[in-house]
Amino acid sequence: MASFTHTEPGAITMETASIVHQVKLPSGLPTDEDFEVTELPLPAVADGFVAVATTIISVDPYMRPRMGAWKGAKTPPTVFGGGSIGKVTESKAEGFSEGDLVIGMWGWADRAVCKAENIRKLGPHALAVPSSALNLYGSNGLTAYMGVEQIMKPKEGETVYVSGGAGSVGAVVGMLTKRRQNNITLIGSAGSASKLEYMLSIGYDEVFNYKEETVPAALKRLAPKGIDCYFDNVGGDTALAAVHKMNSGGRIAVCGAIHVYNAKNMYRKIGSKILFGSPFEIGLRKTIMMDFPLSIGKAYGGPQPEKTISLSGGRKITWKAFTVGAFYVSKEGREAEIKIAEWVKDGSLPNAGREDVVKGSLKDLPRTFARMLSGGNNGKQVLELV
Ligand SMILES: NC(=O)c1ccc[n+]([C@@H]2O[C@H](COP(=O)([O-])OP(=O)(O)OC[C@H]3O[C@@H](n4cnc5c(N)ncnc54)[C@H](OP(=O)(O)O)[C@@H]3O)[C@@H](O)[C@H]2O)c1
Repeated sequence: MASFTHTEPGAITMETASIVHQVKLPSGLPTDEDFEVTELPLPAVADGFVAVATTIISVDPYMRPRMGAWKGAKTPPTVFGGGSIGKVTESKAEGFSEGDLVIGMWGWADRAVCKAENIRKLGPHALAVPSSALNLYGSNGLTAYMGVEQIMKPKEGETVYVSGGAGSVGAVVGMLTKRRQNNITLIGSAGSASKLEYMLSIGYDEVFNYKEETVPAALKRLAPKGIDCYFDNVGGDTALAAVHKMNSGGRIAVCGAIHVYNAKNMYRKIGSKILFGSPFEIGLRKTIMMDFPLSIGKAYGGPQPEKTISLSGGRKITWKAFTVGAFYVSKEGREAEIKIAEWVKDGSLPNAGREDVVKGSLKDLPRTFARMLSGGNNGKQVLELV
């Protein structure tokens, strides 16, 4: 983690931080054995730096491909994790005082010394529920916003399908869609009865459990007039089924591909699937199985162009793979966060921001992570350090 590497010679203190390292490349779902909690000396707080004590740690799907399934992943051992929230314990940086709540990418650690430019104070609307800075008022809320307001832009009378529709991102996608235009048929899929119930409670019109009914069968039943917008959290065969049902002029927001994150060898698995089907089917499979997830990977390096796919019957649809990173730190991102806060306040996003808070120690993070990847979470997964 960039913000944890302040180690000037002679500046190390007697104090330590506990930090979760990834020590192995996982095979399938990550396990406790893939991680170790290590004590490391804390650097002294120099000018321009801030010491923080972590309170809440984010546990996200994107962390899994970074463990080694994708090209370019770091070789372990590496400091693991991403976004965290903490309280300032010492500051030698302008604008930060002891007691401030801050957010930054110092990873799965109980303490850190961060460069001031790598952290920021929680915005006013996140103060009541600090974890919301990782969720609705943070990267997940903004991810949903990008997909709905910048890519899909769903219109009156259209049909919108959201895979992973009960998750942290998916639920907000559903609510933002209905806020924009109520006269939309909103379809969502998820993997448990309680998640289907939740989706209905937040405004989805039609829901299905992808573990009990195939996606093609469900979409045939629930989207007889086709799909105009698809928000893809899953990739793979789910995306393929959605693409087949797209109407001309349809838009796809390619957000994530959790379907392949735990694949033992993503490329070989995809490769074997490419062998089946007609030439058209093979081409489409290649796009959905390979180009979608690879484009998301590329999008981490910057915005990706919108692409067009021609489907049977002269249908043309567009898709855009995107990541929230650059938007999250931009002025437009801050404005979107304020808009989301206003919509929560005026009641247009009722029940937004569901969270699954596990209370525990750093040692509980690997199993919390695996539980979330297998669908055990109900809402944004975070761990509160107690
Ligand atoms: N583009 C970006 O910048 C960005 C930012 C944030 C998140 N994302 C992506 O958005 C997606 C959702 O992330 P989130 O943070 O909101 O997580 P989440 O949906 O709250 O949690 C992950 C969920 O994925 C579902 N899942 C796991 N394996 C699956 C499979 N094989 N097929 C279908 N569903 C599966 C599980 O729910 P079920 O019970 O329904 O299986 C699990 O609860 C992920 O793909 C993530 O990488 C992208």
